[in-house]
Amino acid sequence: MSTAYITTPIYYVNDKPHIGHAYTTTLCDVWARAMRWERKDVFFLTGTDEHGVKVEKSAAARGISPQQLADENSAEFRRVLGQFGLTNDYFIRTTDADHKRQVQTIVKRLLDKGYVYLGKFEGWYDEGQEEYHTETKAKELDYKSPISGKPLVRASEENYYFKLSAFQKQLEDFFAKNPNFVRPEGRRNEVIGRLRGGLQDVPVTRTNFSWGIPMPDAPGHVIYVWIDALLNYATALGRADGTAGPRAKYWPADYHVIGKEILWFHAVIWPAMLMALEWELPKCVYAHSFWISEGQKMSKSLGNFIDLPTIEAYHAKYSLDAWRWYMVTQGPLEATDADFSAKHFHEIYTADLVNTFANCASRTSAMIGKYFDGKLPAPTDEWVTEADGRQYRQVLDGLIDAIEAYEAFKLREAALAGLGIVRWVDLVINEYQPFKMAKDPEQMEAVGNILHDCAQALCWAATALHPIMPTKCEELLRCFGVTLQDTREFLTEELGIEPDVIPAGTKIEKCALFMRMEGPGVPAGA
Ligand code: MSP
Repeated sequence: MSTAYITTPIYYVNDKPHIGHAYTTTLCDVWARAMRWERKDVFFLTGTDEHGVKVEKSAAARGISPQQLADENSAEFRRVLGQFGLTNDYFIRTTDADHKRQVQTIVKRLLDKGYVYLGKFEGWYDEGQEEYHTETKAKELDYKSPISGKPLVRASEENYYFKLSAFQKQLEDFFAKNPNFVRPEGRRNEVIGRLRGGLQDVPVTRTNFSWGIPMPDAPGHVIYVWIDALLNYATALGRADGTAGPRAKYWPADYHVIGKEILWFHAVIWPAMLMALEWELPKCVYAHSFWISEGQKMSKSLGNFIDLPTIEAYHAKYSLDAWRWYMVTQGPLEATDADFSAKHFHEIYTADLVNTFANCASRTSAMIGKYFDGKLPAPTDEWVTEADGRQYRQVLDGLIDAIEAYEAFKLREAALAGLGIVRWVDLVINEYQPFKMAKDPEQMEAVGNILHDCAQALCWAATALHPIMPTKCEELLRCFGVTLQDTREFLTEELGIEPDVIPAGTKIEKCALFMRMEGPGVPAGA
């Protein structure tokens, strides 16, 4: 069985889960579900990043230990996974003893290989991001943090450093040979541009905090949080202990899915570390852009922050699957930010899910109920939908397009291919008007053929869309008497699909998926 490995960033425990975290993890979940349906052996990893000054400070402010703060907030991140229908295979915490031990082993290895050395460094430091900038970059940023807007500070320390500068050429060659390593395209160009500006060595240890993994044999030195954090992708698979462990087979990742603000770490520092370790590089770092809200950057003071209670209110009103649909089809997958707006959410919900998806499923199941006593009519020779270009083959092509799009992490395209199958049903019903034909007994055979094809097509649509809307798609399949296992049986080796997943005579239930909702938005102060 072929393996598939996908990761989210590990989230800082000094924050509470919000739309940003939910979005990245949902994208990974969609891909993981799609790959599992294809019978791949999937490892979907997420977790929490728990060390560093910020956690140390917030814990102190609350009069609790950093470990207590980390335990509390990590548990909250884990709790929401279930609530969001996220099917990660493992949840890593950087405070796990096994992670800490492996990080020390790996850093020690880099030291032994000469890629980590003790040195003195001075530079422009972003305290909020715990990140150094070169003089050129700092100037470009007007000596302010691009994230918090606070001034960069001049800092100098004696630390262990990683010889990032030694990998300039190797990285440039790697980027040239692997055009899909960083996606989308716009982001890749940014990285290449910055890479040309030259590379500085990066700290591997810090001495200004103690809440972290101690550097082996170097009292006072704590492993820099970013080195600690990036290594989670390896320690979760037991990679420091070699390639014999049960999870080692998942290496390297197919996709590290991240937000654009942490691309440099993933696209440059991480690959350089792997080059130093002589480990195979991930296949793709996918850096999406940001959600803004009602036309503005999300901020707690503006009251437009899409926090957990707001998300829960959307789930309660529109359903979890509707939320996931909006995330995937309207989210910032490309190089521009996406605006979350209550009105837009409502419009998309109504157009795609109520008027199209639910409407087709409800009409098809209701007509089978009314004209065929709720049993799927057997097709006859008169294949009505073969006429005027509306071939049933288009449905199967739509499914294949969706599968291929998922594989390539083109999630919006996959969604649209799935919805395209539903639109085929919509067109067929509107064009042939089986509800009118049914008034004439002589046309009942043709009506049976139309509804037979519509029912099959809806099951293929639900198959194509289930990674995004698992609950509603399984509900549709249940109404039409089949399961995802059944639809999978019809997937043949070379991505050929057998038609007719529902056997004739199957009992069809009336299918109600998405209810029409009053006006946009969720209760204020949710
Ligand atoms: N701990 C680091 C990552 C280490 S990975 C080895 C970190 N954590 S974080 O909690 O700040 O999470 C950042 C991630 O949250 C982003 O990369 C992105 O995936 C997600 N988002 C946070 N805000 C976001 C938006 N407004 N929009 C979309 N996603 C964003 O950085």
